[in-house]
Amino acid sequence: MLSIKELSYAFQHNGVSKSIFQKISMDVKAGEFVSVIGASGSGKSTLFKLIAGLLEPNEGQIWIDGQQPEKGLGKVGYMPQKDLLLPWRTVVENVLLPMELAKENKQRKLTEIREWLSRFGLAEYENAYPHELSGGMKQRVAFLRTIMTGKNLLLFDEPFGALDSLTKRNMHTWLLELWGDLQKTMLFITHDLEEAILLSDRIYLLPSAGEEIQEVTVNLPRPRKTELIYQSEFIAMRKELEWLIQDEK
Ligand SMILES: Nc1ncnc2c1ncn2[C@@H]1O[C@H](COP(=O)(O)OP(=O)(O)OP(=O)(O)O)[C@@H](O)[C@H]1O
Ligand SMILES: [Mg+2]
Repeated sequence: MLSIKELSYAFQHNGVSKSIFQKISMDVKAGEFVSVIGASGSGKSTLFKLIAGLLEPNEGQIWIDGQQPEKGLGKVGYMPQKDLLLPWRTVVENVLLPMELAKENKQRKLTEIREWLSRFGLAEYENAYPHELSGGMKQRVAFLRTIMTGKNLLLFDEPFGALDSLTKRNMHTWLLELWGDLQKTMLFITHDLEEAILLSDRIYLLPSAGEEIQEVTVNLPRPRKTELIYQSEFIAMRKELEWLIQDEK
């Protein structure tokens, strides 16, 4: 599905080149849920912008479904780090945005969108404006909009990062329930180790400069429930991940 080979990227700033990562490689198989963790500034959002085709790599290759995306080409659904709902559009109009951009028939999609809104607990908010929604609801609208791009590979940059822990827990329950039906491939950035373990099949730890990227497989059976976090296998996994991260520093 996604294959990244020896990818390097450096930002140019005032004529000085600042390397963000060097020769990182990773693979994501169809249907996998893979999280990317790493210190703030390690380049997680930059990696997503490269995969989404918003930035061009300096070196290395990105393959999506056997093709190398050209710059700006919409091969993936991408939810940026901040939810970017347009304040002057209602919930349903925000969700329709990717279809509008792709010049698809909106009317045909409306039935599908309404079904999803109802699954997302947003049925009554179809015609509400973003300022009328809670933080969790806004995240769900932005999440739904990303799914509605129809792309198989979806990138989520800290979608639940700004939520309080209780709302976040509800989002986890909701996403775990949804996950089996979605049949998408997910790449998910988070700072929250518990979230990464609970949701993912595998976790990549983005290195600080010069180090190797590390990969951890989460061998916990699915379907998963949020109570899993209290089980000993989960706690052991969390400890292992904390060790790895501390080693990085
Ligand atoms: N447009 C830009 N021009 C120059 N430098 C940039 C630009 N965007 C990001 N950077 C730098 O690249 C580095 C990586 O940024 P990035 O946003 O990818 O980090 P991140 O891992 O997503 O961090 P966080 O966890 O805080 O979101 C940072 O040092 C940042 O200052
Ligand atoms: Mg970021």
